[in-house]
Parts: sequence; C-alpha cells; structure tokens
Amino acid sequence: MSTRSAALFARAQKVLAGGVSRNTLLRDPHPLYAKEASGCVIRDVDGVERVDFANNMASLIHGHADPGVVEAVAAQLRRGTAFTMGTEVEIAYAEHLCSRNAGFDKVRFMNSGTEAIMAGLKAARAFTKRPRIAKVEGTYHGAYDYAEVSQSPAPESWGETKHPNSVPLAQGTPEGILRDVVVLPFNDPDAATAVLDEYKDEVACVLIDPMPHRVGLVPASTEFVRALRDWTTHNGALLLFDEVITFRTEVGGMQMRHGVQPDLTAMGKIIGGGFPVGALAGRDEVMAVFAGGAAGLRLPHSGTFSANPITMTAGLAAMQRFDAGAVERLNALGHAARSRIAEAIRIARAAASVTGAGSLFRIHMKPEPPTDYRAAFPTPVEKAALGRFVDGLLDAGVLIIGTAMGVLSTPMGEAEIDRLAEAVLASLRRLA
Ligand SMILES: Cc1ncc(COP(=O)(O)O)c(C=O)c1O
Repeated sequence: MSTRSAALFARAQKVLAGGVSRNTLLRDPHPLYAKEASGCVIRDVDGVERVDFANNMASLIHGHADPGVVEAVAAQLRRGTAFTMGTEVEIAYAEHLCSRNAGFDKVRFMNSGTEAIMAGLKAARAFTKRPRIAKVEGTYHGAYDYAEVSQSPAPESWGETKHPNSVPLAQGTPEGILRDVVVLPFNDPDAATAVLDEYKDEVACVLIDPMPHRVGLVPASTEFVRALRDWTTHNGALLLFDEVITFRTEVGGMQMRHGVQPDLTAMGKIIGGGFPVGALAGRDEVMAVFAGGAAGLRLPHSGTFSANPITMTAGLAAMQRFDAGAVERLNALGHAARSRIAEAIRIARAAASVTGAGSLFRIHMKPEPPTDYRAAFPTPVEKAALGRFVDGLLDAGVLIIGTAMGVLSTPMGEAEIDRLAEAVLASLRRLA
C-alpha cells in the first residue's frame, strides 16, 4: 500500500525489536511512517494525506504543529531544555491545572501516563499502608505491573462475570502481583462492592477510568462511580481516577460529570501539548506523601525529565486555550461525529455500532453497542472485519487508532466530520 513505508519497516526490523518502539503502530503488512503534519492533516512518507482522527493516541488536543505551542516551545528551546533546577513555568502550569478542578490541591509532574498511574498507586499504598489495589476488568492503565493485570483477559481465563480472575498480561508476571490486584466487574455496583468487601482491610485504592476505551469506550455510570466513592470512603481506601484520556471531556476531567471527588487523579496525553507527560493531582492530605514534614517522606519520587520546561511550556500553552468554550465546542463536534457514524451504519445496514462521549468515539463490529469488556471482546470474525474496516478508512483518507477509536482536535470542523462520515460509509460498504 505504501512503498516507502514498506521499505522503512524492512529497515526498522533490522534494528528495532519487532520493528517498532510501540506495538500500537503495528498493522498488516507494515506500519505507516509519517513525513509531516499540520492541524488535523497528516502526510505519510509516500505523500498520502489523511485527516488525523488518531492524534497520536488521543494526545493532541490542537492537532499538529499548533502555531501557539510551536512559538512558545521555540522560545524555550533557545533558553534551554532541561535543568537541574526548577522553573517558573512548572509552577505556573501547576497553578493552571489546580484552577481547573476544585479537588486538585497539589500536583506532581512526570513523563507518561504509565508513571502517573504508578505514582498514584504507590501514593495510595504509602498513605494507607495497605498492599492491594482494585481495578476494573479489561481496563488499560499503562505498563506498571499492577495496572497491567487483567488488561486483556481472554474468555478461557477471565473467570466469573461478577468476580473476574486476576489474569497476567506479560509472561513472567509474579504471582504476588496477581494476588495484590483485585479485579472488578464494570458498571455493576453491587457485584463490585461485594468483591471489594472480601478484601476490606487490605485495599489501598480503587483505580477507575471514567470511560475505559478497552472496555468499549462506555462511560462509567454515576451509580457505579458513587458506589466506589462510598465504598472507599467507608473502608479507609482511596479512589484514583485515570483521566489520561478522558481529561479532554470536561475542563476538570470527566469526574465532573458525576459530582464525585476522587482522592487522586492521573493525567497525561493532551496536558503535554504534544510532548511526553504525566501528572498526578489530588487532595493535600494524600499528596503530602511526596513531601517531607511531620510524617516523614513516605514516597520518594524523582525523574530526570519530570517537569522539563519544554513539556511545561507546551502543556500550559495548549491547555490555557482549551478552556470551557473550547471543550464545549469540541464535545458538540464529537456528538455530531457519533451521530453521523451511527447514520452511516444504518445506511450501510452494517452489523456495527458506535460508543463514546465528549470528543471520543469508537466503532465496533457488533450490532449492539457493548456495555463492558466481555461484551466488547471481538470474535475472530469481528476482529478481522475491524482490521479491514480501519484499512478502508485509511484508503478513504481517514486515520484512526487501530481499535477503531477516534478522537477530535480543535482545528476540526463540520468539513472533517463530513469527511469522516463519508469514509465510514465507504469502508462499511466495502466490507459488505
Ligand atoms: C487510560 C490510559 N491510562 C494510562 C495510559 C498510559 O499512558 P502513557 O502511554 O503515556 O504511558 C494510557 C495510554 O494510552 C491510557 O489510555
């Protein structure tokens, strides 16, 4: 399909393990290689242009090479990129993030969402002095061993619906890690709290994503979120929200839709303004584990590139402009995108469905929109169809994430949504 990309992949396989540095780029027969991008349009090394609904795995809120971010970063590049000193911009950015959510008293920056989740889980253990964490079956929270448990369980190992097994992702995962992760069913408050009750005095933290993409990009119900908030409050555990992807849905994260305040929130992706980032925010008492003081230093935390001035400058420039009005506009465009996709599915009479909220959507090769990880789990036939569907979108000039998840960016408007709807229809028709 792309001769230069094919040649680059052949070359890459000689020096990069598996030919890539992140498996999410793998596709048959080879990954695509980018030449350049601007706004919401990306061009590959063969000169093919596509509208970019992947946005580097949902991490770009203003698309590519946003002029405001480029200008701010260029000025900082000339002043230096990383110092063994703090910077004022790091403080200004923490002030900005704290202003977006009343529950953010303090922030710590790091370099990836994986690190933010790891710091959050370790903070919960340091604060509660308890060993176990609880998470929802099928959720993706990055690569920390504990967060990886039951990320991709298969039917032969996932166990009972209301009491899922702790299933390893990587071979060689120690038994102790599986034992210390309690796996919860999604959007089932009674079953989830019944599982938690079994480990009452040992759970440090319940980790939830308010709209987990691997669980089908289905929003958590307010009833579910409130039940977990109540359970953690009454049982001396913490509630940690993974808003690495969902932070874009509201000014202060998707938690604002439930009127619930978690103790800790992990962020990443868009808050880096296009550069590597992670951040953990939360209430004073809990974030104090990172500080010294009377209780002593309970959780030593550093990182060579944490809060480097390039990321801080880019993140602040990007997020200042992603204000309430911008969030609302992009969410309305997201609503239009999901409606138009649903319409295309109806016109094509395809056995497909669409889920999502805010500026995110995901297309499934299932006639009914899934409600949890097990319902979203594709059969081999559905998996093959999804691959062909995503290829069809590429041919029609639209790039989305390999799981058929798409995300919007602020340079997009009605024209891009029209283009998306046409591509979805063309690709579904080709499938049939
Ligand atoms: C919900 C969620 N949490 C955490 C992560 C990990 O973030 P990173 O890739 O920056 O380590 C991701 C990455 O896709 C994510 O989608």
